[in-house]
Amino acid sequence: MSAAAQRAYRQAARAPDEPDNRFLRDVLDGLARQQKAIPPKYFYDAEGSRLFDAICALEEYYPTRTEIGILSRHAREIAGAIGPGAVLVEFGAGSAVKVRHILDAARDLRAFVPIDISGEHLIEASGALAADYPGLTVLPVVADFTGPLALDSMLPAGRRVGFFPGSTIGNFDPPEASALLGRFAAALGPGAGLVIGVDLEKPVPVLEAAYDDARGVTAAFNLNLLGRINRELGADFDLSAFAHRAVWNPESRAVEMHLVASRAQRVTVAGQTFDFAAGDTIHTESSYKYTVPRFHRIAEAAGWRADRLWTDPDRLFSLHYLTTS
Ligand code: AVJ
Repeated sequence: MSAAAQRAYRQAARAPDEPDNRFLRDVLDGLARQQKAIPPKYFYDAEGSRLFDAICALEEYYPTRTEIGILSRHAREIAGAIGPGAVLVEFGAGSAVKVRHILDAARDLRAFVPIDISGEHLIEASGALAADYPGLTVLPVVADFTGPLALDSMLPAGRRVGFFPGSTIGNFDPPEASALLGRFAAALGPGAGLVIGVDLEKPVPVLEAAYDDARGVTAAFNLNLLGRINRELGADFDLSAFAHRAVWNPESRAVEMHLVASRAQRVTVAGQTFDFAAGDTIHTESSYKYTVPRFHRIAEAAGWRADRLWTDPDRLFSLHYLTTS
């Protein structure tokens, strides 16, 4: 670990951890349902994070490169919208690579606060940022941003601006997304801003290819969820008996990912058994897509006002600046 990373580690504020058995509880609950389902936040163990990085580099997966293009083309305008002296808070920072486009242009931030559930990732990312932005105060917070966020005691005074890129908001159905945006507004406090990336609706073949690539990286990412359950929860999923499926659901306006049982089977997780008929699926992710007006509606329902909008020339992806009063 570098000196900067050690410093970041010592400084990392630790929010109360979720109980250890949360993963197990969510899996057991999800597999007991009529439509079996596992929350997508469990994709990201070390192997899942590695596979997600590989997805982001795929030809078919347009969101990452398109959003980075928007961030780099409009960095000065984004920094202008954020304004001077703000505390920038990234929800689910991961390796905190995208924020560098903003940090390069916004030289007068009060502090940068990356929040991530993985302490290890956070420490590495914070160390790298501290080394590359010597004038910047980096205050990492280990927390699940989907849970309660009591940031007040951890943040320096000043106007707070959230950063939530990657269309991660798309993993929540619209009512949940609105509730999450409302909690961000509450956590950031009065006069806040939010820079948020939102993937846009587009022709179905483009959407389905983005979640079912020719090289099978997304399939491996999806199947790794079962591998993780085997490794961490002592389950006996046979990965060769499940297939990846990605389909657009026109009612919900989301690409759904499923794992389809290719034959009837019984699986044991922590002593509990679950039966699958051939063709039964585990719903592992919905990736909701928006039009700009539909996204504005859910943001406004959560108390945000649409202030600025940046898109790419093909209107594949949108980056919004929202404010509260
Ligand atoms: C990280 C939730 C934005 O939905 O596009 C990528 C995750 N899943 N390929 C997305 C994902 C399959 C991604 N998000």
